[in-house]
Amino acid sequence: MPTTVIVGSQWGDEGKGKLVDVLTEDADIVARFQGGHNAGHTVVIGKEKFILHLIPSGILHKGKLCLIGNGTVVDPLCLIKEIDGLKEKGIVVSEKNLLLSKNAHLIMPYHMVIEAASENNKGSKKIGTTGRGIGPAYVDKMSRSGIRVSDLLYPEIFREKLEKNLRYYSHIEGISALSANEIYDNYMKYRERLGSLIADTDIVINDAIEKGRNVLFEGAQGTLLDIDHGSYPYVTSSSASAGGACIGLGVGPTKIDRVIGVAKAYTTRVGSGPFPTEIKDALGERLRERGGEYGATTGRPRRCGWLDMVSLRHSVRINGLTGLAITKLDILDGLDEIQICTAYKCNGKRIVDFPKELPLLESAEPIYESLSGWKVSTHGITEFSALPKEAQSYIRKIEEILRVPVDIISTGQERESLILLRRQF
Ligand code: GDP
Ligand code: IMO
Ligand code: MG
Repeated sequence: MPTTVIVGSQWGDEGKGKLVDVLTEDADIVARFQGGHNAGHTVVIGKEKFILHLIPSGILHKGKLCLIGNGTVVDPLCLIKEIDGLKEKGIVVSEKNLLLSKNAHLIMPYHMVIEAASENNKGSKKIGTTGRGIGPAYVDKMSRSGIRVSDLLYPEIFREKLEKNLRYYSHIEGISALSANEIYDNYMKYRERLGSLIADTDIVINDAIEKGRNVLFEGAQGTLLDIDHGSYPYVTSSSASAGGACIGLGVGPTKIDRVIGVAKAYTTRVGSGPFPTEIKDALGERLRERGGEYGATTGRPRRCGWLDMVSLRHSVRINGLTGLAITKLDILDGLDEIQICTAYKCNGKRIVDFPKELPLLESAEPIYESLSGWKVSTHGITEFSALPKEAQSYIRKIEEILRVPVDIISTGQERESLILLRRQF
């Protein structure tokens, strides 16, 4: 496993955390390249369940170095809480296993206030964000008023930027209630806690690649939530697709060997926005309950639907996927019939490419192909040949339509519930 990018191929929550945890076994470095604590990556080890928000899922393995890259946005208090939470479970985090990029941007208390105002202003068209201040932190980054992790090391610069930003946003309801002194004091305390982790992560990762180390890039969110390639404006504010890995860690595209797209055997989405294959009846409810489809970060129920090949084809293209990891196959156990969406009908026309225009995507009706389900349990199966033949056909169908090999199949929450189809894993 030289350099491997793991990205979500759908609307997030595909099981990236589990995949990264399993693949970390063969990795030296695991690095997050975008997003913030809007992510919730679940890893189940024995009876213990871990939910990682900003720290790479590789942290659960001893002797691996994890990086939080320049492309991320970091709420330092939440990072400290995450570190403390891990300590309670016996995982000690220090500069030996976690480094934080100097160039990552800080999420500030005013970002949450701005986000609430922006969502309110959108009325019925609100995005349904996680409310973590992610979007406004990226807005500041792009408008060149952001406060970066390295600014914590220069208290005067930090203070000046903080005051300027509070002034600039003072017209927004709730901002004037914030105290610059209090924020400053708190952030200087966070510096005390996090200071030793702050590093030039771009140098660390490029040196490691140069030395032939195995590097795993951990994406957050998913391609359909990508700021450029997702279902805009119902997206997150970062580059969640594979290109984001290069930008978000300072690694050149020539250094990436493989890109694995993680996709559930069905589809889920949390938050607002178009979702052509959403199932709104009891079957959707069944998937939600069987799949435990409740947000790992906000606890919100996830919307559930059939596998969507139109959006996955888009994902294969945008990410240049070399392989797929299909997760939660076991959740489809017991169904008579499984639908797979192969095209959309938009304004009476059959289309196979993911529409760019929101009105088209909102009006898209799925065109399904029906496949036979299977009645036996696939939970915990570790060999492809042990899967019921209908489940094998389902996987083969996905490969045939997308023309990308399925490298990995996940058949349960646990580390062991995994089928590796390619020898190099
Ligand atoms: P992430 O954000 O992509 O890391 O995914 P989440 O952790 O938000 O959501 C995926 C959920 O599915 C978690 O609760 C995982 O433990 C669980 N999960 C992952 N793979 C499988 C699988 O193959 N089968 C089942 N039943 N659960 C899985
Ligand atoms: P992981 O990494 C699923 C969704 C939110 C909302 C939209 C914008 O666990 O897959 P934001 O707070 O980012 O501005 O919200 O994006 N969203 C996710 N959905 N999984 C995630 O992360 C998500 N992170 C953000 O629900 O629709
Ligand atoms: Mg998640």
